[in-house]
Amino acid sequence: MTTGNKLRLGVLGSGKGSNFVAIGDACAASDSPLEVVLVLSDIADAGISARARERGIPAQFIAPGNYRTKLDEAAEAAFVAALQNARVDLVVLAGFMRILKGEFLRAFPQRVINIHPSLLPAFPGLESWKQALDHGVKFTGCTVHFVDQGVDSGPIIAQKVVPILDHDTPDILHARIQEAEHELYPATLAMLARKRIVVNGRRTFFTNRI
Ligand code: GRF
Repeated sequence: MTTGNKLRLGVLGSGKGSNFVAIGDACAASDSPLEVVLVLSDIADAGISARARERGIPAQFIAPGNYRTKLDEAAEAAFVAALQNARVDLVVLAGFMRILKGEFLRAFPQRVINIHPSLLPAFPGLESWKQALDHGVKFTGCTVHFVDQGVDSGPIIAQKVVPILDHDTPDILHARIQEAEHELYPATLAMLARKRIVVNGRRTFFTNRI
């Protein structure tokens, strides 16, 4: 697939970037329909930015402003402008620890997706693997979903099940969920690019260009 036909991804992350690495590795395959064109972070020295630069992908830090859980107005505008300047087709959240609302979502309607470490709608919010252990469920997993105004509440695109084993600790379970994420996220992005996904009963895909 030539570069011009690929789905252009803008990845947002605050952490170590293991999901970005999985997506970046998938993009490296010559027949991949995906291309990461920009990585943005709200953390100055985030691992995800280092992983991007190692791969020759532009990575930019944008100061989030004074709020703890969201971007302030100027930061939100700066994120939107950077993504639009990079002509991204899809905004991919990969461990981005701030809630995106209002103007950001209106700038990329139905074009922002996230991965969450549980089988939504169970265990939204933080440390979902601990929530699953505390609740005593036997299976958990990960979910790729569209981002809407709520927290981890948008339409579900794909899920992968992870069993919970007798002697799991939070760290061991989290690591097993992350392994599942690293398979699910790139595979789901490729299916979205290739028009092979049905969400809420409708075939869902992304034409290049918003
Ligand atoms: C992932 O576990 C994802 O489910 C959650 O944030 C984590 C990001 O990890 N939204 P990484 O930075 O991709 O390693």
